Amino acid sequence: MIIERLSQEHSNIEKLLAILERELEVFDRGDRPDYEVIRAIISYFEVYTEVYHHPQEELVFAKLRTRDPCAAAKIGDLAQEHRGGVERLRGVAQAVDSVLADREVLRRNVDAVVRDFITRERRHMQTEDRDLFPAALKALKPQDWTEIASALTARKDPLFSDVTEERFDVLRQHILLLEQEAEAERR
Ligand SMILES: [Fe+2]
Repeated sequence: MIIERLSQEHSNIEKLLAILERELEVFDRGDRPDYEVIRAIISYFEVYTEVYHHPQEELVFAKLRTRDPCAAAKIGDLAQEHRGGVERLRGVAQAVDSVLADREVLRRNVDAVVRDFITRERRHMQTEDRDLFPAALKALKPQDWTEIASALTARKDPLFSDVTEERFDVLRQHILLLEQEAEAERR
C-alpha cells in the first residue's frame, strides 16, 4: 500500500531529523557534533527523498489533481515545495562543508540554515500527512493506485524495488547506531 509506505517513510525521516536536531544542539553549545552522522543524514536525504520518496508523492498528487482538484489546490504546488526542500538541503550541505573546511562562518548562520531545513521539512510532511494522504485515499480509484504502482515499476529503475527499500533500512539503522555511539562518547 503506497500511502502506508509513504507515511511510514515520514516517521523514518522524522527520526533522522530528530538526530540532526540533537547534533545541532551539540554544535550550538560550542562542542563538535558528529559530522559523520550529519553527512550520512544529508546523503540519505539527497538519495532517498529526492530520488525515491518525492517522485512517489508527486505521482499520487498528480492523480489527486484529476480526481479532486479542490483538495489538490488546497495543498498547493507539491513539486515546487519539494524543490524548495532540495535547495534548503543544499544550503545545509554547504554550511556543513564550510565548517569542516574551517572557513569563516558564523555559527548562528549555520544554526539558522540547519534549523530552517528541519522546521520546514517537518511542516511539509505534516501537510502531506494531514492533507495529501487522506485526500488521496478518499478520492483515488483502484485503477489510479494500479497506474501509480506500474509507473513506478515501469521505470525499471533499480531504485524502485524492495531490495532498495531494505538498503535504505540498513543505512538508517547505521545512522541510528552511529548516533548512539556519539551520544555514549559525549556522556
Ligand atoms: Fe513531500
